Amino acid sequence: MPSDDPVQVATIRRLGEHVGRNVRLRGWLYNKRSKGKLHFLQVRDGTGICQAVVFRDDVVPETFAEADRITQESSLELEGAVRADARAPGGFEISVSALRIVHLARDYPIAKKEHGPDFLLSNRHLWLRSRLQWAKLRVRHTVVRAIRDFFDSRDFVLVDAPIFTPAACEGTTTLFEVKYFEDEKAYLTQSGQLYMEAAAMAFGKVYCFGPTFRAEKSKTRRHLTEFWMVEPEVAYCDLNGVMELAEQLVSAIVARVLGVNREELKILERDTAPLEKISPPFPRLKYDDAVRFLNGKGLPFQWGGDFGAPDEAAISNSFDRPVMVHRYPAAVKAFYMKRDPEDERLALCVDVLAPEGTGEIIGGGQREDSLEKLEAAIAAHNLPRQAFEWYLDLRRYGSVPHGGFGLGVERTVAWLTGTEHVRECIPFPRMLYRIYP
Ligand code: 4AD
Ligand code: MG
Repeated sequence: MPSDDPVQVATIRRLGEHVGRNVRLRGWLYNKRSKGKLHFLQVRDGTGICQAVVFRDDVVPETFAEADRITQESSLELEGAVRADARAPGGFEISVSALRIVHLARDYPIAKKEHGPDFLLSNRHLWLRSRLQWAKLRVRHTVVRAIRDFFDSRDFVLVDAPIFTPAACEGTTTLFEVKYFEDEKAYLTQSGQLYMEAAAMAFGKVYCFGPTFRAEKSKTRRHLTEFWMVEPEVAYCDLNGVMELAEQLVSAIVARVLGVNREELKILERDTAPLEKISPPFPRLKYDDAVRFLNGKGLPFQWGGDFGAPDEAAISNSFDRPVMVHRYPAAVKAFYMKRDPEDERLALCVDVLAPEGTGEIIGGGQREDSLEKLEAAIAAHNLPRQAFEWYLDLRRYGSVPHGGFGLGVERTVAWLTGTEHVRECIPFPRMLYRIYP
């Protein structure tokens, strides 16, 4: 197949544009079935999978021999005519006229049989090629794009937050410490929020979007040690404004995924009916009422604690949209939360719990804007005052009511794709005891 010949290189995703014509595909063998004079090749090229049929009477003997010996995940180039075929996965099939093995793969470790999660995670670099993993990460791509489009189209300014930080944002128990030259210590960021507050005072509406780190010492299906978070922050915004922004963002993400990832959701056998219902307004539930609700269900939850995964599941399962639980006891939340003027025990915060048992995908709220109260909160949390002087400056020079939130990308993708564990919703997961590959 010389490169100057006129046959166009096509992608599987766009095969529909080439029906009735000869095309060239470049990809890998996903699977093969053979029957007498026929080889049915499942070919993937990164954009999709399609069936390519090699019929002995239609090709030169060399091509048939290549189809005979090609193995799973060998790379290949083929030429053939595109036919529309409603029964074929993807709707098109290729009648192969020429086939060349680019590289013959031997003993591909991920066979068609079932493998345990440890084995698959250790082979994550190859597991990415599998159909379900491929589909999940394509949805992730859509989610990321939807988030960026959402904020960019609303005049938010992207302000990147630093990864090395001098202090904790979300409690000191989950800090990753790194040596920062001679005697200095630094921490990997848990959240860009504090920097976004500074940026909001400079640009009004901002967001950061990047990796964040938590030394989570527990193994759960919802925790990674490195995860991606988008964090909008808005000046002159109260808790209500934060909740409105959150429900609009989540709805925009869902709508985008439903719009462009039908194929992927089908591969994942994701029932889309629950997703079709996601639109504002989301139900709002005061923490107090959530506690009453749990107790009414017979769960022995005590006022004052933070919800565990089973509590969140019990709450979110009783709504068909994400539910926004607001005004938690300040004692279980971070130091920067503004107190509710109507009940000083409570914080003006919100957690968004996604349906179908997903649980929290967003945490946020209104920030303390009084210098004195923030100083007291930093002392009460035993945080090193010096590291927060710059943050206190934001309350010294033109302090205004402001707020924002963080949405976890992996938990959102897990919800939308119906994935049990967040580890499959990031290309290369970082978890307790796992940093390979
Ligand atoms: O609720 P969190 O801790 O909130 C903050 O970090 C705020 N500073 C955000 C802000 O207001 N700007 O985290 C926000 C979200 C959670 O709702 C969850 O979706 C995700 O980040 N998240 C994690 N995702 C995966 N693994 C972990 N260990 C996570 N910790 C939080
Ligand atoms: Mg939270």
